[in-house]
Amino acid sequence: MKVAVVGATGMVGEVMLKVLAERNFPITELIPVASERSVGKILTYKGNDYTVVGLETAVSMKPDIALFSAGGGTSLEWAPKFAEAGTTVVDNSSAWRMDPTKKLVVPEINADVLTKEDKIIANPNCSTIQLVMALNPLHDKYKMKRVVVSTYQSVSGTGVKAVQQLENEIAGVEGEMAYPYPIGRNALPHCDVFLENGYTKEEMKLAREPQKIMGDRTFSISATAVRIPTAGGHSESVNVEFENDFDLAEVRQLLSETPGVVVQDDLENNSYPMPIYAHDKDEVFVGRIRRDETQPNTLNMWIVADNLRKGAATNTIQIAEYLAQNNLV
Ligand SMILES: NC(=O)c1ccc[n+]([C@@H]2O[C@H](COP(=O)([O-])OP(=O)(O)OC[C@H]3O[C@@H](n4cnc5c(N)ncnc54)[C@H](OP(=O)(O)O)[C@@H]3O)[C@@H](O)[C@H]2O)c1
Repeated sequence: MKVAVVGATGMVGEVMLKVLAERNFPITELIPVASERSVGKILTYKGNDYTVVGLETAVSMKPDIALFSAGGGTSLEWAPKFAEAGTTVVDNSSAWRMDPTKKLVVPEINADVLTKEDKIIANPNCSTIQLVMALNPLHDKYKMKRVVVSTYQSVSGTGVKAVQQLENEIAGVEGEMAYPYPIGRNALPHCDVFLENGYTKEEMKLAREPQKIMGDRTFSISATAVRIPTAGGHSESVNVEFENDFDLAEVRQLLSETPGVVVQDDLENNSYPMPIYAHDKDEVFVGRIRRDETQPNTLNMWIVADNLRKGAATNTIQIAEYLAQNNLV
């Protein structure tokens, strides 16, 4: 398959190349794409060198699949041009996620909604993906009513500039700021832009995307998204109220039987999920599973995943694998 990686020089793009190689995605021709600043740069994939091209050139090469992670503006402008040329686009930005004509997919949950007619497919937000991976099996069994989630998100979720800001602060070097405040030794209750309702765009992604992915609007989600000075991996404190009561052992069992989810919850041995140990892993880790003692049918848990892997690159590539395996491109 002829595969274009749009945003190949970025944080997500780099991990995409790594995951494509690891999973041995059937590539006959790789087309790395980035902004005009990077055209001509050499990237290595499976030991071979590839030259970065611009978007115009990439469209004219008519790839079978284009994996986009180059920001919302680039996706809005260029995904339709690729689609028109016959390419199927899987997009990591927020540009198409809530468009009712586009599918929003976490393969373990709703890959079956995909058809050959889907030419632009949206990959959910990183913090949404790890959340729904854990919520979906529990919702099937106990029916969720309301979820309250607070996130602890790493700087890699913002991109290369933010990682550089944290590194500069640690090294005591002045440099470009990705955030309005220092991030080292700090916590910013501010992920993405503020909206008119007082929430951030990231918080509204967490509130809306799960309903679309799970195909159910009967539950509600309230979110607070916080940026913390971890290099990689997002963590979430999640409180879920169900319609039906649950048994904690059964909750653990359900989660451990869910493909892509790992239960790490052994308090005697101080075992719980942490971002540094989720690094470079595709699984979503769940721990601190306990009953909320202040309210009936309510559960607390802690969910951690590598935002650049399952939160972005891996999920995108799983979608592409599903399309390839089911002859949908
Ligand atoms: N980081 C995450 O955890 C995460 C998770 C899910 C989704 N996403 C989404 O993925 C996208 C990329 O995120 P990132 O963290 O990888 O950002 P990043 O590190 O800043 O990389 C951005 C990439 O996009 C390219 N690009 C920027 N403007 C472009 C243009 N006008 N035309 C073509 N290419 C352009 C850049 O190329 P140059 O190197 O040439 O500038 C670079 O390859 C964003 O939409 C983000 O919301 C990120």
